[in-house]
Amino acid sequence: QLEVSLRPRRLATYIGQAKLKAELQVYIEAAKGREEALDHVLLYGPPGLGKTTLAMVIANEMGVGIKTTSGPAIEKPGDLVALLNELQPGDVLFIDEIHRLPKVVEEMLYSAMEDFYIDIVVGEGPTAHPVHFPLPPFTLVGATTRVGLLTAPLRDRFGIIERLNYYTPAELGQIINRSAAIFQTAIDPAGAKALAWRSRGTPRIANRLLKRVRDFAQVAGKATIDEASVDQALTLLDVDQRGLDATDRKMLLTMINYYGGGPVGVKTIAANIGEEAATIEEVYEPYLLQIGFISRTPRGRLVTPAAYEHLGIAFPNEGD
Ligand code: ADE
Repeated sequence: QLEVSLRPRRLATYIGQAKLKAELQVYIEAAKGREEALDHVLLYGPPGLGKTTLAMVIANEMGVGIKTTSGPAIEKPGDLVALLNELQPGDVLFIDEIHRLPKVVEEMLYSAMEDFYIDIVVGEGPTAHPVHFPLPPFTLVGATTRVGLLTAPLRDRFGIIERLNYYTPAELGQIINRSAAIFQTAIDPAGAKALAWRSRGTPRIANRLLKRVRDFAQVAGKATIDEASVDQALTLLDVDQRGLDATDRKMLLTMINYYGGGPVGVKTIAANIGEEAATIEEVYEPYLLQIGFISRTPRGRLVTPAAYEHLGIAFPNEGD
């Protein structure tokens, strides 16, 4: 699958997240030097920034295998036992959306993470008895968009906790050039730059938009993607100059037109635009906060003058 080959496999080819990479490099080298499993790693941040990719990179750099699952996919303790049972010493167990683990499963993870064993109850009724089940040393890599939803006991069992940040347009430009090369598609510097600015700081979005822009350029008979191809495709896709999509604009316009630009609560915004409050908090709001189009106050979210300017709406002055 093409999507898979877009993912870098080594830290050296992973673009951006410089501080996180520098730290991981040290922890990986140290763990390898001691011939130990890497300490458990918690990765958090908005979707599409490379949490899954990093888990795979970590396994590659450690030279171990990786098992991938997600919080909601592990429904009962037996599902976790089955996964843990397949691990080889040093392997990575990657759990995406780890904030959505059922409570009984989470509690089972505590001893697995801390001391590499689980206690399982075997049999039923009067013959039921706990069995101590030792595990090979392994590395749990957990990923979440909502670190605040993790319980303290789970969070505290991760020795390495790292936040992924939005990528700069320059970093996204490098990722776009790398992906275009993998696609064997030519893109000129102005085209890459325009696309980078419109990708919401997010490699997953940059790569998705690149595929669509490539389609438009190809059908238009262009050998090289240029700024005009990017403009044409993204205008049709309703992605504006700062990467805002229809939902971002609907959210800002609702806040401006019905709530005087705020402050307004996330639940109120969600009800008005027909999105889940969680989606607004995890996906839309972080980017709008990052680019300074909304700000947070104790009474709710406010639309900033920069957002009014971007939308071509006059900022209301006091007394208007
Ligand atoms: N493709 C997606 N994310 C990437 C990254 N951070 N570095 C390189 N290529 C990528």
